[in-house]
Amino acid sequence: MRLPFIAANWKMFKTVHESVVFVKELRLLVKDVEEVEIVIAPPFTAIHAAAEAARNTNIGVAGQDVYWERDGAFTGEIAPGMIKEAGAEYVIIGHSERRRLFGETDAIVNRKVVAALAAGLTPIACIGETLEERERNETLAVLDRQIKDGFDQLTAEQMAELVVAYEPVWAIGTGRTATAAQAGEAHAHIRSRLRQWFGADAADRCHVIYGGSVKPDNIRELLVEPDVDGALVGGASLEVKSFADIVSRSRRAAV
Ligand code: 13P
Repeated sequence: MRLPFIAANWKMFKTVHESVVFVKELRLLVKDVEEVEIVIAPPFTAIHAAAEAARNTNIGVAGQDVYWERDGAFTGEIAPGMIKEAGAEYVIIGHSERRRLFGETDAIVNRKVVAALAAGLTPIACIGETLEERERNETLAVLDRQIKDGFDQLTAEQMAELVVAYEPVWAIGTGRTATAAQAGEAHAHIRSRLRQWFGADAADRCHVIYGGSVKPDNIRELLVEPDVDGALVGGASLEVKSFADIVSRSRRAAV
């Protein structure tokens, strides 16, 4: 059974100090939550301190991006082993902001996913269509391309360990959440492609989470959809009570 997976993507927000204060508060608020996987993704600078504050708790830590080489002359880049050593167990890859603002392609996403897995990190790999693509009825074709090219060469076992985040670009930071039916349709499609291309076991074990204007008051209806296994939360994860509310409301939701 897939436990609900709720992750906070802080994007370029929070200093080291703010991150530690958040984790210390969150720790208390979610200490009795056992049946939800909880992850926070601070900026690189705060990974180590946040992971120390989350040590021996039910909260995991993620990076927000990673490079694919182990080391070398790549000024400004961070290797998978480096964020792992700093305390991250997960890493967000291919977020639409990286794709749109920094030119990341499916081929780049693929190299990063492969490198993260090789370093023992769990990728939280993002896919999703833009508004124009949705309006042109290309949503499912875009998802197919992102899955095929982004997860190319992964074994069924690796695919089973992945967290796939479906984040329709038009729903990110806009307050315009996909309806439960829209999310449900996309997630069911993703799951069926994973089954077709990676087999039933990988498709059943892989978490497919939703991202885009998730809030405490819409998380439950999203999680009712059988193929929605959790959420990647942006804006509503910056305030600890709101994120803790989302976590609490994910308990015992049907997944
Ligand atoms: P919002 O929750 O602010 O819409 O952001 C979603 C997101 O991009 C999470 O990765």
